[in-house]
This record gives sequence, structure tokens and C-alpha cells, in this order.
Amino acid sequence: MADTASTAGTELERQLEEMLEIEKFDPPASFVERANLADPAVYEEANADWKGWWMKQARELSWFREPTLDVNESNPPFYRWFEDGKINASYNCLDRHVEAGNGDRVAFHWRGEEGEERELTYSDLLRDVQRFANALKDLGVRKGDIVGIYLPMIPEVIVSMLACARIGAPHNVVFGGFSADAVKERMEFSEAKALITVDGARRKGRTAPIKEQVDVVMDDLETLEHIIVVKHSGDACEMREGRDVWFHEICDAAAPECPPEELDAEHPLYVLYTSGSTAKPKGVLHTTGGYLTGVSATHSYVFDHKPGEDVYWCAADVGWVTGHSYIVYGPLCNGATSVMWEGAPDYPHKGIWWELCERYGVTIFYTAPTAIRACIKWGAEHVEKHDLSRLRLLGTVGEPINPKAWLWYHKVVGGERCPIVDTWWQTETGAIMITPLPGLVSTKPGSATRAFPGVLADVVDEREGNPVEEGQGLLVLKRPWPSMLRTLYKEDDRFVETYFSKFGRTTYLVGDAARRDKDGYFWVIGRIDDVVNVSGHRLSTAEVESAIVSHPKVAESAVIGQSDELTGQAICAFVTLNGDLAGTDELIDEIRDHVGERIGKFARPKRIIWADDLPKTRSGKIMRRLLRDIAEGRALGDVTTLRDAGVMAALEDKIKEEQAQEG
Ligand code: PRX
Repeated sequence: MADTASTAGTELERQLEEMLEIEKFDPPASFVERANLADPAVYEEANADWKGWWMKQARELSWFREPTLDVNESNPPFYRWFEDGKINASYNCLDRHVEAGNGDRVAFHWRGEEGEERELTYSDLLRDVQRFANALKDLGVRKGDIVGIYLPMIPEVIVSMLACARIGAPHNVVFGGFSADAVKERMEFSEAKALITVDGARRKGRTAPIKEQVDVVMDDLETLEHIIVVKHSGDACEMREGRDVWFHEICDAAAPECPPEELDAEHPLYVLYTSGSTAKPKGVLHTTGGYLTGVSATHSYVFDHKPGEDVYWCAADVGWVTGHSYIVYGPLCNGATSVMWEGAPDYPHKGIWWELCERYGVTIFYTAPTAIRACIKWGAEHVEKHDLSRLRLLGTVGEPINPKAWLWYHKVVGGERCPIVDTWWQTETGAIMITPLPGLVSTKPGSATRAFPGVLADVVDEREGNPVEEGQGLLVLKRPWPSMLRTLYKEDDRFVETYFSKFGRTTYLVGDAARRDKDGYFWVIGRIDDVVNVSGHRLSTAEVESAIVSHPKVAESAVIGQSDELTGQAICAFVTLNGDLAGTDELIDEIRDHVGERIGKFARPKRIIWADDLPKTRSGKIMRRLLRDIAEGRALGDVTTLRDAGVMAALEDKIKEEQAQEG
């Protein structure tokens, strides 16, 4: 990927260029001295007895009944972990810290878009969670019922998730950037009984009328019995008698004490929908004991987290798995003090993240490469204005990081003293799988380095599944791990087919291409399926295509992910219109808005190319590979399998026309 231009020609740019020569960055001695894991033997030990290693991690949690069984492998890929244990996630996140005398510790320094501040201690959260858990029960929500959550980054989203966990009602959180249509679809697929949402969500000084938007689509959804509304923006909204209730009112009316349910380790904790190769999103199901084991162990070792000392900030949204695992469950299990920011990284100004790091004394900071690239574009001066001397560890997640962005992060944000953990994982893996351990592993810009202890990752060839020593292959995980998805909600067959059919039922197919270097380090390249990664947001090309063709003027569409300097990949759509309709700029806007309504604004195509026809094989399959080549200006690959080779020539003309207009 081309590197971001804004440092071009500066002294900083020259320094970064020079640093590109450095192959490895060793952990600083001062860091190693105090690291949570500093004995390299951990890798061999965990490898030799991986079940025992995970059992040891599980024992760090508080169980109502300690498990004696590690993993049940009798029916792969339906693994069961710690299955004779009894546990509750909200107890592990809250009660146990309060009982240990840490109730006054801040769990979240919450900061609102307009500068409002709320400090939530562990005791505060426990109080609110118990009340809301009782309120849910009063509404008739029972253990096993699915509860939808569609909320912005406000404390109530944490309270809602933990209240669900307390009573054993799996939550189904939908990222606030998804449209109401997408929420409805996810509520429908999961047969959610209740939905927790908000009157209005604030974004960069404006409010979006969320409840109103939800009302438009949710009317005919019979399975949804209750809509619980958090008062946040203060905008008026209609409340439908018998279905809608205010969050604060039902909490006020509820009893203050709600003992946590003693749940089986394998009780479902949540469903989180993510994009796959087809238009229908996949409901990734995570259960309780194994998931908590994975997220708490990785949070402690990968971020070297020290409870009571560190101030930790994962600048993701709770609506994605990163938020579930590393804003909510991992950090809270470990008694962390976190920062939670309601807004965008560039509102009210482009230095807000660093202002907040200074204000709260952030020591550990975790974000996505796309955000780092945006910061590079905005300029180092926004970072340099602030005192970031307390930072001691940085992390990235979501997509491969280009070395220049890594070095910029290291130098400008980390002051060249903070190790960077490039963490590779997925919604499906629940927790970090490939990552440096910051006190043990030397890092190389762009590589996620080694598998986490206990995890067995490999790069294999497409045909036989044999390890690939040199060059690119498919990334696989060859052993079960506690935080792995248990199935796709209500789609067991699709679960097996998607992840465990290519190389048998014990090898998890990741869906990414990767290579290993001479030191055995992993370099993740990107997806091998039709999943596109836009700013770390996972989208399926089929999902976007289906949204585009639902526009009345569109006949057909093919969507590809195109490399993008800022967002990693960007959506590029080839669109064929109905009849002899002509493509206009207005129609481009219409189609983009239409996709925004169907999926969410983040899914809007960056580029739309009008096509009279699409390149298809003789059997009618669209050849996306050729579309990718043409969109990125590469020489076309093999076109002999095309039904009509003239289609590509016509498209090439179109692109030339587009470029001439732009130029
Ligand atoms: O392609 C990989 C990429 O993100 C995908 C998983 O997306 P999602 O389930 O939305 O979870 C994102 C946050 C965990 C992976 O299949 N990916 C994630 N982390 C990295 C990455 N690619 C390269 N390097 C990473 N560190």
C-alpha cells in the first residue's frame, strides 16, 4: 500500500524513511523488568500442555464451581470448554472486584462529545447492572432469551451487556453505525425478545433520531416484545404503549439486588453478527467460561495490564468484537480502569484522542491502523501538543499495518519507548490469537509476530493443507482454543462448512492469506474470500451488492474491495442500470444513500463505475478478480474463461473516461 503523503518532505518523513531500515525492535529493558510475562519458556510450556495452560488461565477467573474438565473434543468442531464449571460473566467483571475491596476503583472515565464527564466505579456499575438486570426480568426476559442492543458509546451500553450476562440472556449488540434496516434483520435472525436503544445518538455535534428510525422498520417484527429506550440526546420520541419503556423508569422501579445466575461454562454469552461470503450475516456465538478465559488472559499478557496502576484505552466501538472483548469483558475481568469516549477522533478537534490520553493519564492505547493513517494525514502537531509521557504500550488491530504507519505510531505517539502489539484475531476467535508478548517478543513493523501461547497457527497450501515454508498460503488454526466461536447461531451446517470443511473438522480455516518469515513470524496479508475490510469494518461484497440491486434503477452489480491509502480497502461497485437508463452523478448519490440506509453509512461505495455488462464466465459467475485488476489499473489477468471478452474492453474505456474527467 502506498504510504500516506502528509509527512512528505518533512524532517519526520526523513527520520521514518531511515527507520524503515530497522528490521526488529527489541522490548525496552525497563519494560521487560516489569512485564507480566517475561520468561520465554512460556511458549514451550504452553505448547507441551496446551490444555493445562488454558486450564491455568481459566482458574484465574472466579467460578461458582471450578471446572475439572478442560476441552471436550468428542465431536469436532463442536468443542466444549470447562464444561463442568459454573460461572457468571457479570460476577467476574464486577462483584468480585467489589468484594475484594476495589469497589471505588474507576472502571470507566466516560467522556461525552461535548466534554461531559462521568466516572463509573466498579461499585457504581454493579449497582446499575443489578437494577437493570431486575428490570429486564420484570419485563419477562428470561435466561436464554436474546436481547438486542443498539446503543452509542455511553455507559448504558456496558450496563446493558452486563445485565444481560447477569441473568443469562445472551446479547446481540449491533454497531451504532449500522442502519435501522440492518438492526431489524439482526433482530429477526436472532429472534430477539427485547431491544435496548436510545432516543438519539450524537455524532460530531449533530444528533441522529435513532428511536424514530427504529420505529419505522421494527413495527412488523412480532418476536420483538419490548423496546427499552435510554434517554440520552433528550430529543422527543414516540413511545408505543405496551411495547416501549424508558430505561431509567424501569430501573427506578426495579429491586436493587439481583444475584448473578450460576451458569454453565458453555452457556451462550452473546451473538455478534459479522459479514461472511454471502449476503446473509453470520451470527457468531460465544459462550461464557472459555470466552472469559481467552479475553482475560490475553488482556493481561498482551497489554501487560497492571490493575490499579494502568489507565487503559481501547478506542474501538463496543458494537464490534474488539469492543466486546477489549472494552468490556477482558478489561473488566481484570479490574482495569478504562477511558470510554463517545465521539469521533476528529471532533471537536483532531487532537481530541491525545487530549484525553493526557487528561486521564492513559498508559495503554489500542486502536486500528486506519485511525493511525488518519492521524498521519492530520499531522503530528495534533499529537505533539499533548503530554503523552505516561503511555507505555501501544496496540493495533483490524487490518495489516503498513510499516510507515507503524513507525509513525512508534515515534510520534509512543515517543520511541512503547512496544507496539500488532494483534491479529477475528470476531470468530473471540480473543487475540497472533501477537507479540510485549516483554518477550521483538517486533517487526507490519508483522503480528507469533501465536499466543497455547494457540497453534500455521500457513498451509491451498490444495493439500501442507505447511508452506516460503511464500504465501492460507492461515489456519490447528487446535481448539477456549474463546473460539461455538457455532453460527441457528446455522450449525454453515458453521462447519465455512470454517471446518476445507482441511477437515479439526483445522479452523481463518479466511486470511499469510506468510511466515525466517524467524517464523506471521505476516497476515488479507482476506481470501469476498470479505472487504474498510477502516477495519468487515463487509461482504455480496451484502453490498444485494443492497445496491435493491435500488429500483439497478439491474446488476458487482462489488470489490479496492486498496485505499486511508481506509485499507474501499468499496468499489460496478453497476449496470435497468433498460437504457444513463448513469448520472445524482444517481451515484442516490445509490450511495440507498446502501447507507440498507446497511449503514460506512458501507457506502466510495466509487461507482457504470457498466453496460459485467465480465462473466460461461457459467455466469462474475469474475471479480478481473474487476479488481481493472479498478486498480493493473494489467488484466487471464481472460480466456470469459463468455464475452468484449465486456472488459468496454469497461477499460469507461475507466479511462472516468480518469479523464477526474484529471
Ligand atoms: O483479515 C483479518 C483482519 O480482520 C479480519 C477479522 O475481522 P473482524 O472479525 O471484524 O475482527 C476485527 C477485529 C478483531 C481478519 O480475518 N485483521 C484483524 N486483525 C488484523 C487483521 N489483519 C492483519 N493484521 C491484524 N492485526
